[in-house]
Amino acid sequence: MIELSELKEEIDQFLREKMPLDIDQDTLAASMEYSVNAGGKRLRPALTLTTVQMLGGQVNQGVMKAAAALELLHTYSLIHDDLPAMDNDDLRRGKPTNHKKFGAGMATLAGDGLLTMAFQWVADNQLSAEVRAELSLELAKAAGPSGMVAGQARDIEGEHQRLNLDQLRYLHRQKTGALLRYAVLAGGIITNQEQDVKGLLADFGTQFGLAFQIYDDLMDVVGTTKEMGKTVHKDAGEHKNTYPGLLGVQGSEQQLHSVLKQAKATQTKLGEVTGCNFKPFDQFLAYFKL
Ligand code: IPE
Ligand code: IPE
Ligand code: MG
Ligand code: MG
Ligand code: MG
Repeated sequence: MIELSELKEEIDQFLREKMPLDIDQDTLAASMEYSVNAGGKRLRPALTLTTVQMLGGQVNQGVMKAAAALELLHTYSLIHDDLPAMDNDDLRRGKPTNHKKFGAGMATLAGDGLLTMAFQWVADNQLSAEVRAELSLELAKAAGPSGMVAGQARDIEGEHQRLNLDQLRYLHRQKTGALLRYAVLAGGIITNQEQDVKGLLADFGTQFGLAFQIYDDLMDVVGTTKEMGKTVHKDAGEHKNTYPGLLGVQGSEQQLHSVLKQAKATQTKLGEVTGCNFKPFDQFLAYFKL
């Protein structure tokens, strides 16, 4: 089993080596590579790769390319999320945001390029045709207008209305949960799991994803710019609907605890149903420092 830190290095290296091969314009390449290579925890591709390994699969070049595709797509979502017309942020991954460095036009195109290239990488690798087709469909559902993009639409519209807890949970599941759900599910698709196992993997990803956005909301209130690599204390001023905004810090921590408990229970069930060791998920659950 590869450690998370080691996986991150392998993902970093793969992205650095392979991205330039598929971009044919210098400024666009600089802009796309700037945000991808700025760092990031690489949690989404690492979740896919770890899931593949736990289920007994090999991490070969085809698996790596399909997993790395998700990091391209995630980075697009960050570039667009930071644009002046969206969250208007100046700092991302410890560096000036893409539009600060390259302008809003090129930043928009860098996002467009990364989103498109993500599907290219899912389609063009050594995995079987069936696996590639299923990954493409699930990624489209997770990232598009029934997933993340719908969540982002609710997020900006929500700046003019106060959502209740059910609505906010739904928003968070879409804007952040959907991609994390896909990250874990992809490991099950790649290793050809039965529907019941894929369902449990999707559940774990959904629970992890909701926890992730609750924690992100909390860190905007109690975290620091240095540790997050992005400006904190911004959500309230932008009239964002957040867990701390609705429930306070303590109430949000309680919600986070309860979702993480559900994720733990799913992790245990996955072990029982598959007979595989799902302990490596602990490395991801350790992200939440309470
Ligand atoms: C940030 O995601 C955006 C959210 C969904 C909260 P990450 O916290 O995974 O950001 P990076 O990839 O490590 O920069
Ligand atoms: C998650 O929400 C954004 C995406 C889906 C890209 P946020 O807007 O809270 O993410 P940060 O805090 O800017 O990273
Ligand atoms: Mg946002
Ligand atoms: Mg934002
Ligand atoms: Mg945030």
